[in-house]
Amino acid sequence: MLVSVISLLAAASAVSAQSSTVTPAPQVTSNPAGAKYVAMLPEKEGSALSGSIEGTTGADGKGVKFAVSFSGLPEMGGPFIYHIHAKPVPEDGNCTATGAHQDPYMRGEATPCDPSMPETCQTGDLSGKHGSVDAMSFSAEYTDAYLSTDPSDPAFFGDLSFVIHLANKTRIGCANFAMVDMDHSPPSYGTVSTTSSSDMAHPSVMPPHNATVSTTATATIGLPVMPSSSTTTGLPVFSGAAVKVAGSAGAGALLAAALVL
Ligand SMILES: *[C@@H]1O[C@H](CO)[C@@H](O)[C@H](O)[C@H]1NC(C)=O
Ligand SMILES: *[C@@H]1O[C@H](CO)[C@@H](O)[C@H](O)[C@H]1NC(C)=O
Ligand SMILES: *[C@@H]1O[C@H](CO)[C@@H](O)[C@H](O)[C@H]1NC(C)=O
Repeated sequence: MLVSVISLLAAASAVSAQSSTVTPAPQVTSNPAGAKYVAMLPEKEGSALSGSIEGTTGADGKGVKFAVSFSGLPEMGGPFIYHIHAKPVPEDGNCTATGAHQDPYMRGEATPCDPSMPETCQTGDLSGKHGSVDAMSFSAEYTDAYLSTDPSDPAFFGDLSFVIHLANKTRIGCANFAMVDMDHSPPSYGTVSTTSSSDMAHPSVMPPHNATVSTTATATIGLPVMPSSSTTTGLPVFSGAAVKVAGSAGAGALLAAALVL
């Protein structure tokens, strides 16, 4: 008993000390070649906001190369911030239901990300690591060393979502990532890292798809299915998320138990 109390206390102090001694995120160096995931904001009535985030395995499998593009952002309320979130967007499009930021190493929110030490940031904190959005139209490309296109890696984002927020955290848009099958893509999709890549704006030529369709594609990761494929229902869409939720609930329970002591 004493031993288990001590180990609980140790776990508790490890958690409470996280703001000063964050477990650094490991660099991901063995992402599968050519794996690509795209999330595209659905059209929303009364909103001009559009945009997408594409993430493709980086050179030599190192990290993920992101192409981010937004337009129609509000005149006020910036700088806008965006993150990969811990859960997918449900079919009703409720951005709040995506939960907190992707944070597999449980760094927490309390301390803002220091972009000069990106390994200490939440893996999902893309704007914290790579810069926030201070214009109504924005595009950026960068490679993030800490994210993964490998479904077995804790920092895999391909079954998750991103959310774009006002500076005051209000969620103004969200979309699910879905795998893009490079071999069966329409030509306009481009094969960014392997063959001729034009600088064509991918979002404008991609078929519009909404949370329903993206969520469906989420359930078919690994199969040669395009995000625009027909909608099916009744698939175990949230099984991945459920596992993650269960995991973080477990951590919370441990913390709660430790704090009671
Ligand atoms: C955030 O900012 C927007 C626009 O400035 C405003 O409408 C909204 O009420 C604010 N929300 C919070 C929670 O402060
Ligand atoms: C959106 O999701 C949040 C969190 O799951 C929930 O509390 C809220 O009631 C939902 N809003 C709507 C309109 O369904
Ligand atoms: C999303 O797309 C599906 C299939 O095309 C459609 O049935 C559904 O109404 C759309 N949802 C929204 C919120 O646009």
